Amino acid sequence: MDEAPTLAQRARAEAYARGPGWRYDPAYRRIAGALALTEGALLDIGCGPGLVCVHAAAGHPELDCVGIDTNPAMIRLARRSAGRRLNCTFRVMDGAAIRYPAATFHRVVAVQTMHHWTDPDAVLAEIHRVLRPGGIAMLHDADPSAEIDPAFVRRRGRWPPDLWLRQMWRRDSLGDAGFEDMLERTRRLAWADVGVDTLGFYRRIVARR
Ligand SMILES: C[S@@+](CC[C@H](N)C(=O)[O-])C[C@H]1O[C@@H](n2cnc3c(N)ncnc32)[C@H](O)[C@@H]1O
Repeated sequence: MDEAPTLAQRARAEAYARGPGWRYDPAYRRIAGALALTEGALLDIGCGPGLVCVHAAAGHPELDCVGIDTNPAMIRLARRSAGRRLNCTFRVMDGAAIRYPAATFHRVVAVQTMHHWTDPDAVLAEIHRVLRPGGIAMLHDADPSAEIDPAFVRRRGRWPPDLWLRQMWRRDSLGDAGFEDMLERTRRLAWADVGVDTLGFYRRIVARR
């Protein structure tokens, strides 16, 4: 049984689901597709309303998708997003203390959550531990200088305007120095390969175990 969310956690989750969670749904679909995984196990850290897992799981019954988040209200929303999908599991859990054995997952994904991590080294070490050999971590952060790709945003008419999105984008990201710092911290672990690329208006750290 999960602990009950606080009022603040509930408010944050509801606002997120009605705002970015809804608006960026096409982006989550693209992120899920780019994982290129149709079977095996996926972990989404800081899953929020769970839409990356839901899209990844669709049509792939052999793929087990696990989303974790420290906010129990987000986990409730994620379970609601998944509906009856049997291959999605959402659990209240801290990315800094992942309660899964070593070498469990083929992919670990994180989307716009790194700026929240209070102990990034602990989360990165856990990602490294739970990935299988050859598994890949894809850690997405908003790229403040990217063009707003219309295919990544659901709009109601002309809302939300690009200018406003860009402001949100800058606020909800690591920023350039933070991104460089996260990359540097990632590189300290024993990966086969670490690189950076972009996906629409995200930049991401891609690290292969
Ligand atoms: C901005 S939301 C992004 C949610 C989702 N990834 C998305 O893109 O829609 C960031 C989420 O990370 C979660 N979070 C922050 N620190 C975390 C940690 N150490 N472990 C797991 N989740 C965390 C927050 O509770 C929040 O739901």
